[in-house]
Amino acid sequence: MTFNGRDLISIRDFSKEEIYHILDIAQGMVPIAKGEKRSDILKDHILATFFFEPSTRTRLSFESAMHRLCGNVINISGVEGTSLVKGESLADTIRMADAYSDVIVLRHPHEGAGRLAALHADKPVINGGDGAGQHPTQTLLDLFTIREAFGKVEGMNVALVGDLKFGRTVHSLSYALALLGANIHLVAPPILQMPKESMDHLAGLGHKPMASERLEDVIPKVDVVYMTRIQKERFDDPTMYARIAKLFTMNNEMLKNAKDDMIILHPLPRVDEIHPEVDQTPHAWYFKQAFYGVPVRMAILALLLGVVK
Ligand code: CP
Repeated sequence: MTFNGRDLISIRDFSKEEIYHILDIAQGMVPIAKGEKRSDILKDHILATFFFEPSTRTRLSFESAMHRLCGNVINISGVEGTSLVKGESLADTIRMADAYSDVIVLRHPHEGAGRLAALHADKPVINGGDGAGQHPTQTLLDLFTIREAFGKVEGMNVALVGDLKFGRTVHSLSYALALLGANIHLVAPPILQMPKESMDHLAGLGHKPMASERLEDVIPKVDVVYMTRIQKERFDDPTMYARIAKLFTMNNEMLKNAKDDMIILHPLPRVDEIHPEVDQTPHAWYFKQAFYGVPVRMAILALLLGVVK
């Protein structure tokens, strides 16, 4: 098992054993992520974060991870202010990141941009979200959170709720859950069903998810409810978005039928999917989940840079 110099573009690039190894390394990073312990294992390394779509968690947790391990960060946030506005290609922009840093995180609105970037960089490229494609580092922190809550992922019943068509986090997560032996329940309106490509990948693993259009029917049966935002920015027709935007909103009333230890996850940002009253319940794990982005991304950086094996 070697990680040194590899790209992280899709969760499918990693085996079950490799995924568990990343989670194990991340476990050891938690006290450093909290600032309780010091480590300088990434000193003299430079991370480039190139984000051409908005982000709060992915960019800041990668940058926090790098700083906590005493590394350095250079960043771009948005196309404005870069030579892309003069017509420079993404390939040439990535060549510059490759020249100026040791590892690159790219977020881009176009599916496949991460894979393209990896072709033009010698240094490791990490996909920080490519359009409606994949978000593999989010998946790793989601798995980490489930394992923290239950001690395992295998056998857990996980409902993926909301925008399963455009939500890249669930495309990556569904594959990983099936690979690790969890049971998947899909909850989405007909026009936001999981794409055929993702369903084919699940079928390839011998996994057939259960499907429902009603969140209320699924809540009592599952250990994890993974809520997602309806991806407004990926709709061509705003009236269609308005019709389905508030279809699934978790509130305390709905939680009355939940298992006592059921956890609610959300990659965030949330809009209307989880009422703020839920934040005060023991089911609310989404802010803890967002924190786990730091130790998990520390582990990813340290492994791909070869300072941890
Ligand atoms: N979960 C996630 O990708 O959040 P950001 O869009 O804020 O990075």
